[in-house]
Amino acid sequence: MQDNHFIVQTESLTKEYGDGTSVRALDSVSLSIAQGEFLAILGPSGSGKSTLLNLIGTLDAASSGQIIMDGTDLSTLRGDALADFRRAKIGFIFQLFNLVPTLNALENVTLPLLPYQRGLKFNLKKRARELLEEVGLEKRLDHLPGQLSGGEQQRVAIARALVNSPRLILADEPTGNLDRKTGSEIMQLLTRLNRDDGLTLIMVTHDNAVASQADRTVSMRDGRVEEQTD
Ligand SMILES: Nc1ncnc2c1ncn2[C@@H]1O[C@H](COP(=O)(O)OP(=O)(O)O)[C@@H](O)[C@H]1O
Ligand SMILES: [Mg+2]
Repeated sequence: MQDNHFIVQTESLTKEYGDGTSVRALDSVSLSIAQGEFLAILGPSGSGKSTLLNLIGTLDAASSGQIIMDGTDLSTLRGDALADFRRAKIGFIFQLFNLVPTLNALENVTLPLLPYQRGLKFNLKKRARELLEEVGLEKRLDHLPGQLSGGEQQRVAIARALVNSPRLILADEPTGNLDRKTGSEIMQLLTRLNRDDGLTLIMVTHDNAVASQADRTVSMRDGRVEEQTD
């Protein structure tokens, strides 16, 4: 099932939580995402969207089935190898930003690579500064998350997701906590990264207007994926 055209392929991916009264959060999902594609995932609350994103993002393991990313079967990776793979390939953006409240914007962006700083071929602080500039926050480098608006916090989180130069961005309702105008500014930033820099973007959203900007939309219901054909 490997094909270099695809950055991610899932095959019969299933996730059950708990035992006894187990919940099947993901039910045999087979989905292929092309290099450079912007895929939107729609679906009601509880339909398994975050579960699917977390499995693709290697934050959680499947109960059964397979994920192939860039030709690697994720189930063959453990511990440090899995963390190294994640760091090389994936950037994550969350609805609630997930910034560290006691660190300023610059420190939040450097954080994912801080333990590896000595092995880097570039200056980490300089790169973080450039990324914050790219998202329009060059005047907010030493602000704490609590001193930033929601949209600014999400920009910091986007810069943080980019610090390891991933080819794949996973975004779980990135505009879900923002007003419409701020949300559309964040969408402009993310679609620019997809169109201009060729990053693959997999985005969970409740918002049809957001999904309409994607190359392709799939819908989830009860842990299953349906392709949209409009
Ligand atoms: N850690 C967990 N433990 C037990 N059940 C979970 C856990 N995470 C999610 N679930 C359940 O799995 C289903 C899918 O959840 P989720 O993927 O978060 O849905 P969505 O993101 O579409 O709202 C829901 O029924 C949810 O309650
Ligand atoms: Mg969710």
